[in-house]
Amino acid sequence: MQSARQHDPRGRVGDDGDVERLAASMRAQGLAGCELALVLGSGLGAFGERLADARSVPFDALDGMPGSAVPGHAGRFLHGTIGGARVLLQQGRAHLYEGWSPEQVTRSVRAFAALGCRALVLTNAAGGLRREWEPGSLMRLTDHINLQGRAPLRAAERAAACAYDARAGAELDRAAQEAGVRLERGVYAALLGPSYETPAEIRMLGALGADAVGMSTVAEAAVGHAVGLRVAAISCITNHAAGISGEPLSHSEVVETGKQASARFARLLERALPALARAAALVLLLCFGLAACRSTPPADFDRLELYFGLTGPGGAPIGAAEWERFEVEVLVPELGGFSVIEARGAWTDPEHGRVAREPSRAVVHYFDPREVAALRAKAARVVDEYKRRFEQKSVLVGWLLGTHEFQ
Ligand code: HPA
Repeated sequence: MQSARQHDPRGRVGDDGDVERLAASMRAQGLAGCELALVLGSGLGAFGERLADARSVPFDALDGMPGSAVPGHAGRFLHGTIGGARVLLQQGRAHLYEGWSPEQVTRSVRAFAALGCRALVLTNAAGGLRREWEPGSLMRLTDHINLQGRAPLRAAERAAACAYDARAGAELDRAAQEAGVRLERGVYAALLGPSYETPAEIRMLGALGADAVGMSTVAEAAVGHAVGLRVAAISCITNHAAGISGEPLSHSEVVETGKQASARFARLLERALPALARAAALVLLLCFGLAACRSTPPADFDRLELYFGLTGPGGAPIGAAEWERFEVEVLVPELGGFSVIEARGAWTDPEHGRVAREPSRAVVHYFDPREVAALRAKAARVVDEYKRRFEQKSVLVGWLLGTHEFQ
């Protein structure tokens, strides 16, 4: 297959066809059907060994997947299971500093969404600006500063206030605690690279509010959020940033420290991925649940909500404590692929009482503003149908009607 670099014109905005081609060839190679995708950065690829029943597909066997020539990047996808969750691992990534365009760097992220993934975990190696963080520390990103000078989003896509999903972050914190792994939190600044920073640049980044510095991730995170994925990201702090400790930096040190941290990193991911994937799977379950309930009108809608809320993948019950963590996303199939309805809080559970404290609320995001009129018409039909079936007993539908997007 032709290399992606020759195959793709550089710097073109809005390469929908290229995303579709990549997604189609990934599907043809058996890489679809995962709730969650994970991108493994420099020196962190070994986590792939933890995957059961893994199917491996090299980037260059796929149509339009840019490769990476950076040492420590395997350049392949792995499709397998971990803790019962099906996940898609991307071992290695393309970087802007290698000459790839923002569209190419983020193409696989758009393909993940096209293949039905709902959550995205990004990882990278980074330099630490905090003296107290020893090399090998792990940090989850609470936000980023994009200093790469390239904008990864398309004109119609609005940048998120923050690309990183707070609930996915809380899930990572919980997994870290359960795994006995210390997980710092901080702001990641991305520079173009490929050279490391000067001590003066690191002082500047510190003044700007950065805790870690690297050369990747921010474009993927912004695009992941824009296409509706729940994004979380973790940096492995492989070295003190330039001038912090006085030691010279090298890529081999970055890869070596990444390897040394890999056992802790794997313990964290082994806990976190199934939980993050399960939250994503729950979304699908809710979707089927809603579709199914249309043919079986419930006697008591509160109980029906409970049925959605407390049934996990495979029918396993979910306890109140667990349930409270999820932001429930209800994908109403009749609304088509471009609408997501989020419903939060106030789910009733007869065993545990009322589990969430906030009142329910529903929000509709329109992914494509050109579709709003058609979407509204469809939504009105669906809402009418639910009103008829449930006689407005539904908290979800009731609140849904109350949101301003439906006025
Ligand atoms: N700077 C930029 N990128 C990095 C570093 C660093 O110190 N360490 C690992 N990736």
